Amino acid sequence: TGSPDLVVVGSGFFGLTVAERAATQLDKRVLVIDRRDHIGGNAYSEPEPETGIEIHRYGAHLFHTSNKRVWEYVNQFTEFTKYQHRVFSIYDGQTYSLPINLSTICQYFGKSFSPAEARALVAEQAGEIDTAAAANLEEKAISLIGRPLYEAFIRAYTKKQWQTDPTELPAEVIARLPVRYTFDNRYFNDDFEGLPVNGYTAWLTKMAEHPNIEVRLSTDFFDVRDELPADVPTVFTGPIDKYFDYQAGELGWRTLDFEQEVLPIGDFQGTSVMNYADEDVPYTRVHEFRHFHPERAYPTDKTVVVREYSRFAESGDEPYYPINTPEDRAKLETYRDLAKKEAAEKRVLFGGRLGTYKYLDMHMAIGSALSMFDNRIRPFFDQGASLD
Ligand code: FAD
Ligand code: NA
Repeated sequence: TGSPDLVVVGSGFFGLTVAERAATQLDKRVLVIDRRDHIGGNAYSEPEPETGIEIHRYGAHLFHTSNKRVWEYVNQFTEFTKYQHRVFSIYDGQTYSLPINLSTICQYFGKSFSPAEARALVAEQAGEIDTAAAANLEEKAISLIGRPLYEAFIRAYTKKQWQTDPTELPAEVIARLPVRYTFDNRYFNDDFEGLPVNGYTAWLTKMAEHPNIEVRLSTDFFDVRDELPADVPTVFTGPIDKYFDYQAGELGWRTLDFEQEVLPIGDFQGTSVMNYADEDVPYTRVHEFRHFHPERAYPTDKTVVVREYSRFAESGDEPYYPINTPEDRAKLETYRDLAKKEAAEKRVLFGGRLGTYKYLDMHMAIGSALSMFDNRIRPFFDQGASLD
């Protein structure tokens, strides 16, 4: 099939966006390689075989954005449903709506509050600790929302997420803890939101459909890099520390474990996500995937639930959320310098969540890939500009 003009390592949203643009806008031949046996990176979804219910193998993915360019771009590949995300939390035998809003506050304190009354109550309770003086995550959270709401909705959930008591976690782990003084419990505030009508994998497959794009699965870059044609520009969306043989050390990540079960009932929890805020429940949340697509004709006597557990990643685990300690940030500085040299000397660009060690929502990964295409890849091919 001839030599590619561009190699893309990783078929997640970042890699596929770069590949799609280079193939369709510049008529370049693109080779996409992925170590997994499927396309799509962490957004990959598949039908659970017994029920046909679409599940997201690497954790539930909700698409939302306020970036008009990204919204127009993604609508070339899929239509979106009218799904609006909402999250609930079980604490001490009651079910509450999140993010903490007027309904949560009225229910938790057992009486009606006007917005002004609720605001005054939370301000008074948050007054216990000065935010600037907070020495750990617990003190910071109390300084923002007060002790009662912290103890109900944040303390044990955070402890389960980090396997660490919040008094031992740095205050910077939380920047803000928004409280809404309205009954609005829509999870996202973005202008555009929805789920792909035919699922994520159909969307991702469509992005790679152009004949200029060849996707090679079950292929690890580190096993084939010596066989790839020298000098071909490469966009690398795998882990940046691994690319540089961990010479500045390993970057820290949190991972998730998923426990999936088909239940012989039509509806387990009446909604797509339930958080578990009690300490004695070992999982953090339960996803029930049928509720992401109420418009579909799923079986009415079976449902799929996935319990989610959170922990620090060890080598071999899927890296999901960057931990970003001061040590991680120092290592990342070194890797960024190495990446700059690699771009200048070997035409390798680093992108995506693993290539930049950044949590990126899908719309951010796509937006940042479109920018890399505009600012680096197009000028390289059109004007012979250097890649760095
Ligand atoms: P990835 O999707 O991770 O793709 C990277 C690809 O590179 C992978 O396919 C990997 O196999 C491949 N690769 C790595 N190393 C190599 C190698 N050596 N050789 C070949 N291939 C390699 N975003 C939202 O907008 N909404 C959500 O609700 C949401 N929920 C999320 C839930 C979880 C649990 C997680 C972890 C993320 C969530 N995201 C969500 C973020 C979303 O997953 C990312 O935005 C998206 O995955 C970023 O795409 P990417 O291409 O940068 O990375
Ligand atoms: Na999610």
